[in-house]
Amino acid sequence: MLTILLYPGLILAILHVAAPLLYYYRALRWAKRPWGINPIDVDPPRVSIIVPTYNEADLIYGKLSNIASQDYPRDRIEVIVADSSTDNTPKIVEEWARDNSLFKVKLIKVEERGKVNALNEALRHVEGDVVVVTDVDSLWERNSLKNAVRWLSIPSIGVVSCVKRPINGSSVEETYRDLYNIIRVGESKAYSTPIMHGELLAIKGGLIRELNGFARDVGADDSYMGLLAISRGFRAIVPEDVVCLEYVPRNIIDYVKWRARRSQHLAQSFIKGIRLSKPRGFSKIFNIEAYLHLINPWILLASVVLLVLSRSIIGLAVVSAGLITLAWRPFRAWVIQQFMLMYGMLRNVKGRELAWEKVRKG
Ligand code: GDD
Ligand code: MN
Repeated sequence: MLTILLYPGLILAILHVAAPLLYYYRALRWAKRPWGINPIDVDPPRVSIIVPTYNEADLIYGKLSNIASQDYPRDRIEVIVADSSTDNTPKIVEEWARDNSLFKVKLIKVEERGKVNALNEALRHVEGDVVVVTDVDSLWERNSLKNAVRWLSIPSIGVVSCVKRPINGSSVEETYRDLYNIIRVGESKAYSTPIMHGELLAIKGGLIRELNGFARDVGADDSYMGLLAISRGFRAIVPEDVVCLEYVPRNIIDYVKWRARRSQHLAQSFIKGIRLSKPRGFSKIFNIEAYLHLINPWILLASVVLLVLSRSIIGLAVVSAGLITLAWRPFRAWVIQQFMLMYGMLRNVKGRELAWEKVRKG
């Protein structure tokens, strides 16, 4: 009786799988081509590195040491720690600054909560030509800062971010990251990528001043900064030689909360980004990514519902085949991501969650 649901269910299932696959292969082709632009060697500009901190006593000392070990002239770096902690993070920052007195470190106290707010407060203290934001729960490979700054020396490039590798992630997290990094790099080579990472976000100083800092109503400060730069005619890229390592929550409940909040924030960036002006080359990339992040997950859900309700042998066979395929890691990573995206979007109904609870990582 309900077999009329079978065909729509099948069509949606095919659409859900085909759209990202086709796009992935397209991005893979992009990723294989040469950049076509080359960073120029210039005198290293002065870099202001903003580190927002909220109860990071476990990781902050190592984070500052990682910055100090970058292959970059230390007299060209200033670090601004924008802190709203209630633990002894600020004490540890002061201790680190004493142990490394050759390094310029400013510690500023930010009363109001939320990362975006801390970043905007920190911007008032910036003296550098390039502004770099970095989360405490991430580390950089030794050349990442230097490489990011070199890319920014190209006039058309406004924002540079990193490819990411999990430090202690599960295999699902690793698989997801591999596919994801290829897409980021491919899009960057083609034009720009709509997704940037707070683990390393380097912005031209003049551009961020022109924009008056970070948008106050978007949780994904990083990605939305890229979109703003693009709307001003710049490119926002993720090159493969700028690499960040990121701690991932080990506990499964923390992991789900963490991923869902990031999805929630990314959805905010895509939705708000729809109205920004975009050059033609980027419009296509943005539209398909917005579709993949905001709509395609619901198509999976709708197709499963239709197939199950159809009660037809074919419908149930397709759903069972899908369940069996979950044993295959990339597919499992994909399906988990779809649920994170849906859950994240639903959370936006309750609120934007611009200030969040800290999740234990590492
Ligand atoms: N000063 C200040 N005040 N810093 C904060 C606050 C706050 O209220 N909340 C978080 N931070 C700092 C953290 O200490 C950390 O250095 C950084 O901001 C990122 O916060 P995490 O708690 O580590 O969040 P995440 O790992 O999930 O971050 C990812 O998602 C965010 C959006 O959901 C990253 O991609 C972030 O860059 C992104 O903003
Ligand atoms: Mn983080």
